[in-house]
Amino acid sequence: MQLKFAAQWLLAVAVEHSLANDLNLQQLEKRAALAYSEPFYPSPWMNPEADGWAEAYAKAREFVSQLTLLEKVNLTTGVGWGAEQCVGQVGAIPRLGLRSLCMHDSPLGIRGTDFNSAFPSGQTVAATFDRGLMYRRGYAMGKEAKGKGVDVLLGPVAGPLGRAPAGGRNWEGFSPDPVLTGVGMAETIKGIQDAGTIACAKHFIGNEQEHFRQVGESQGYGFDITETLSSNIDDKTMHELYLWPFVDAVRAGVGSVMCSYQQVNNSYGCQNSKLMNGLLKAELGFQGFVMSDWQAQHTGAASAVAGLDMTMPGDTVFNSGLSYWGANLTLAVLNGTVPAYRLDDMAMRIMAAFFKVNKKVDELEPINFSFWTLDTYGPIHWAAGKDYQQINWHVDVRADHGNLIRDIGAKGTVLLKNTGSLPLKKPKFVAVIGEDAGSNPKGPNGCADRGCDDGTAAMGWGSGTASFPYLVTPDAALQAQAVQDGSRYESILSNYAASQTKALVSQDNVTAIVFVNADSGEGFINVDGNIGDRKNLTLWKDGDALVKNVSSWCSNTIVVIHSPGPVLLTEWYDNPNITAILWAGFPGQESGNSITDVLYGKVNPAGRSPFTWGATREGYGADLLYKPNNGRDAPQQDFTEGVFIDYRYFDKANTSVIYEFGHGLSYTTFEYSNIKVEKPDHSSEYKPTTGKTSPAPTFGNYSTDLNDYVFPSDEFPYVYQYIYPYLNTTDPKKASADPHYGQTAEQFLPPHATDSSAQPYPRSSGKNSPGGNRQLYDVLYTITADIKNTGAIAGDEVPQLYVSLGGPDDPKIQLRDFDRIRIDPGQTATFRGTLTRRDLSNWDPAVQDWVISEHKKTAYVGRSSRKLDLSVELD
Ligand SMILES: *[C@@H]1O[C@H](CO)[C@@H](O)[C@H](O)[C@H]1NC(C)=O
Ligand SMILES: *[C@@H]1O[C@H](CO)[C@@H](O)[C@H](O)[C@H]1NC(C)=O
Ligand SMILES: *[C@@H]1O[C@H](CO)[C@@H](O)[C@H](O)[C@H]1NC(C)=O
Ligand SMILES: *[C@@H]1O[C@H](CO)[C@@H](O)[C@H](O)[C@H]1NC(C)=O
Ligand SMILES: *[C@@H]1O[C@H](CO)[C@@H](O)[C@H](O)[C@H]1NC(C)=O
Ligand SMILES: *[C@@H]1O[C@H](CO)[C@@H](O)[C@H](O)[C@H]1NC(C)=O
Ligand SMILES: *[C@@H]1O[C@H](CO)[C@@H](O)[C@H](O)[C@H]1NC(C)=O
Ligand SMILES: *[C@@H]1O[C@H](CO)[C@@H](O)[C@H](O)[C@H]1NC(C)=O
Ligand SMILES: *[C@@H]1O[C@H](CO)[C@@H](O)[C@H](O)[C@H]1NC(C)=O
Ligand SMILES: *[C@@H]1O[C@H](CO)[C@@H](O)[C@H](O)[C@H]1NC(C)=O
Repeated sequence: MQLKFAAQWLLAVAVEHSLANDLNLQQLEKRAALAYSEPFYPSPWMNPEADGWAEAYAKAREFVSQLTLLEKVNLTTGVGWGAEQCVGQVGAIPRLGLRSLCMHDSPLGIRGTDFNSAFPSGQTVAATFDRGLMYRRGYAMGKEAKGKGVDVLLGPVAGPLGRAPAGGRNWEGFSPDPVLTGVGMAETIKGIQDAGTIACAKHFIGNEQEHFRQVGESQGYGFDITETLSSNIDDKTMHELYLWPFVDAVRAGVGSVMCSYQQVNNSYGCQNSKLMNGLLKAELGFQGFVMSDWQAQHTGAASAVAGLDMTMPGDTVFNSGLSYWGANLTLAVLNGTVPAYRLDDMAMRIMAAFFKVNKKVDELEPINFSFWTLDTYGPIHWAAGKDYQQINWHVDVRADHGNLIRDIGAKGTVLLKNTGSLPLKKPKFVAVIGEDAGSNPKGPNGCADRGCDDGTAAMGWGSGTASFPYLVTPDAALQAQAVQDGSRYESILSNYAASQTKALVSQDNVTAIVFVNADSGEGFINVDGNIGDRKNLTLWKDGDALVKNVSSWCSNTIVVIHSPGPVLLTEWYDNPNITAILWAGFPGQESGNSITDVLYGKVNPAGRSPFTWGATREGYGADLLYKPNNGRDAPQQDFTEGVFIDYRYFDKANTSVIYEFGHGLSYTTFEYSNIKVEKPDHSSEYKPTTGKTSPAPTFGNYSTDLNDYVFPSDEFPYVYQYIYPYLNTTDPKKASADPHYGQTAEQFLPPHATDSSAQPYPRSSGKNSPGGNRQLYDVLYTITADIKNTGAIAGDEVPQLYVSLGGPDDPKIQLRDFDRIRIDPGQTATFRGTLTRRDLSNWDPAVQDWVISEHKKTAYVGRSSRKLDLSVELD
């Protein structure tokens, strides 16, 4: 075993960095003792008959069959950082009328342009627990992308899932609950793709923190490491938790997946064959393409055979003018290191995703914005400063999305506490306190990529952002409401005006609304010592002191929180002077209108917390790694907590929480009764998938004469730093510029890496059905319950269906289904939730399949993870 480990490592290290010679045996041994990733080869080729993909693959086959080798390489290789208008583009195929495809951020809007909308964060839409709103948000974002010429919108996010609450990018995703995230992924993807834009499920996988995700970035912060973090995740946890929402993404037909920066089991996300070949393509039957995160590729041939299909942004490091692919991929196919079928498969996957959402290649209209500038005129090749022309058309793609954004912001607001002060009804005197109610003095887009926490927080920071077309602040919206009502209104938009604040809120009959926040984002920006990840779970800018001060002076204090996840409310949440607490997430451009709608009861709140509000940071169990723990080698993050994150951990530890997962109040009341179980007629035994794929197909021929691959300088000029598929010379060693050039596949690729023979289907896979064995989605039980609105006003209720799988290692309960139902006063509605075979199974690593255990299973229907009104045993 040790021998195998060491051999594995030698191989992996050699493949990864051609460093084998530089490492001594001691270092190798040290590394061999760490978690490692089993090889999975060859890379599964596409299945042209897969459900939902057949038509797209028929078109892709017709198109790809006509392509030359250079054209195929063009499709797979980004042209370099800043080489064209979008954050990433691949080469064009002018001969067949396909313009360069545009890959562009973000999961909440179109980044770095103008006349676009700034949508609520993924986490905020998750809090609506409303599938329709998740879909409509996706659709609206897809439309905006399409309207700017974006072909692949880089979202939605299920990695991070939210293993630890301080994770910097948790707000970009949905929830630490895999089912809620899975629903968010599927609905968003369907929305984006129905609007004609390819979605991108990211970051695959285990990308749970910002610290140490990239070597250069970490070194910039003074951490002396030479490899990125390794998230070490066991197979069961992978399936039952982190992979789960990606399965839903694949089932929803997602066109692309982005592999992540960090390593899993000490193998980089974008060259980990177990992840891309094994889990994503073989087991889940993913038919689209895998693109690298920006600079997350570290090898050429090795990443190709491990399952990577597109490199972004194409250069080895930004603006190097060199690429692991491009000319290198052309050479690797010509010299037989990367099998031709693998390149064909990449091209087929990319074009199938394209045809899944587009009709024809020549129908694409031009990209009409530039990410790099808002100037109307500028160089189209930004990095090279070349070809000055009009590059921004400032197309207004917002349509009426502002209404949807306002609606999601209100419906995603969670009323955590209300002792009766809400809803407001023409209050006599409103005092609004706190910087978070106001605007950023430098403007809503005053900090690049929203990299500051000045003024109200309506999104986090990093690449997961979009510029605000406007930002309605809480102060502006609440003042407008107050003026309309004839209320007196004063706001103090500073956390540090204690005497003025005291004077204001100590007056008689004041309704004081305190706005506080926390912020987080992506690792490339440091805000107040938070390098992406939050360094603590407390409020920023003395928010706690502000709340404590106001509530000590005013017996009607309402607290509104904008944050990227939970903050610690422990010191003040139960103060009786605090009559209401609301979490408003990151609501986007209509922030003030959304919160006003809720505070004044124009929207009866029904948002549910998509995470747990613990009393202490330690109470969450799992936490981030803030200091390297493996010398200069890859920091090791062992996910030893398994599936026990967020509410699963609190339940296991049996600790009380401030507000539980799924909690949220309404201005009306509901009563639950009459739980029933139906067993649809699906008693068929589970049949593992058997059989083999067909052998790897290839499409089209190619010449082996290197003269055919040389840069055609008579046709167009070489753009500085641009990545092309061409060779500079017919001398392959010189053309590759790689000192190690000449090694054969046998010498440096793992066994079977170039095999093209028929391969067995994994038993849990679905053959023709992406997302796994069809029978995993058989509904085994339908659970119904009656919900009566016992209050005086109409409202939405969010019934939640949980299961206990009953085993000693199972979480106490796990969310499996939910709905958001509008119910009029006095009326009763029926909630209907389903439990599929997957919902009732555990992943069995020995069998490599989902298995329903012998343990007694129970279904619960309730209003939160700790208010389980009804329960029923399943036979
Ligand atoms: C990581 O290692 C664990 C423990 O050996 C194993 O169960 C799991 O499948 C591995 N995952 C990957 C992606 O290599
Ligand atoms: C590759 O793409 C570039 C633009 O990115 C284009 O100029 C070139 O003609 C393409 N090459 C081929 C062979 O299609
Ligand atoms: C080819 O890849 C190697 C690394 O594997 C790199 O050093 C070299 O610069 C690349 N060549 C080109 C032409 O981009
Ligand atoms: C084939 O080309 C690739 C990419 O440049 C290179 O890494 C490899 O060493 C070459 N192999 C042979 C046998 O020439
Ligand atoms: C902007 O680009 C989109 C998509 O390519 C296109 O539909 C639209 O007509 C373009 N508008 C302008 C003004 O260029
Ligand atoms: C405060 O409200 C009470 C009850 O509505 C009222 O009697 C009192 O006059 C009000 N005080 C002021 C200063 O408006
Ligand atoms: C937590 O971090 C925020 C943001 O950097 C900072 O304002 C606050 O003071 C920190 N809290 C504590 C208790 O240190
Ligand atoms: C809270 O009140 C005290 C006493 O007035 C003051 O010293 C402190 O600065 C205040 N803090 C905040 C954040 O309002
Ligand atoms: C509540 O507010 C009143 C002022 O209205 C103050 O006298 C009292 O001390 C406050 N109570 C608490 C627990 O802060
Ligand atoms: C290929 O040729 C171009 C144009 O002369 C040059 O800019 C580039 O650096 C060359 N690339 C390599 C890897 O030699």
